[in-house]
Amino acid sequence: MRVDLYTLIHKAQRFHMFRLSDDIGRADLADEGATTRICNELHSIIARLRDHAQNEEAYIHPLYDKSGAGANALDAGHQALESGLEKLERLINERVWEEIYPAYTRFLGMYLIHLDEEEQAQRDVLWQHYTDQELAAVFNRFKAERPPALAKSDLEFMLPALSVTEITRMFQGIKASAPAPAFQGACALATHVLGPSTWERVVANI
Ligand SMILES: [Fe+2]
Repeated sequence: MRVDLYTLIHKAQRFHMFRLSDDIGRADLADEGATTRICNELHSIIARLRDHAQNEEAYIHPLYDKSGAGANALDAGHQALESGLEKLERLINERVWEEIYPAYTRFLGMYLIHLDEEEQAQRDVLWQHYTDQELAAVFNRFKAERPPALAKSDLEFMLPALSVTEITRMFQGIKASAPAPAFQGACALATHVLGPSTWERVVANI
């Protein structure tokens, strides 16, 4: 199995974005409380997607440039998605509720295709040009430079979307590389997010 820079965070994005789509679809947008909640959720996912794009551009796109394949197509994809995010923000700010659901689901469709393009590019370019050690070095640099509060938020975002096998592998990695207090903090967060019965299945193997 190759070092994979995309799959886990992309699974988490799909998980939360599908849930938000369902949430918007079911919300009574004539109700002030519901619109406030949906707006907060939209602003939160928009901020996360922007942060994610910046991380990819800072850490992963240079790998495409160095390989000779270039990152122009992926950069252009990010720009197109940024336009979609700006449109969503305009609709939220102008409180055009009847257009939020179609605009969001259209954006979700574009985003899903983009995720697939990135994962295909990893297979076609990154895995052909780089060793697992080189890819792991990039991922480790990202983790080392990620502020602790954001690392915690990333973990909280990913945990509900992953299989027990993926979570187990992730926690084996944290245990092997992070200081004990950070590992214990991650375990406490996982117990809270996953619930005791799922967490026990993870703990049995770490
Ligand atoms: Fe991505």
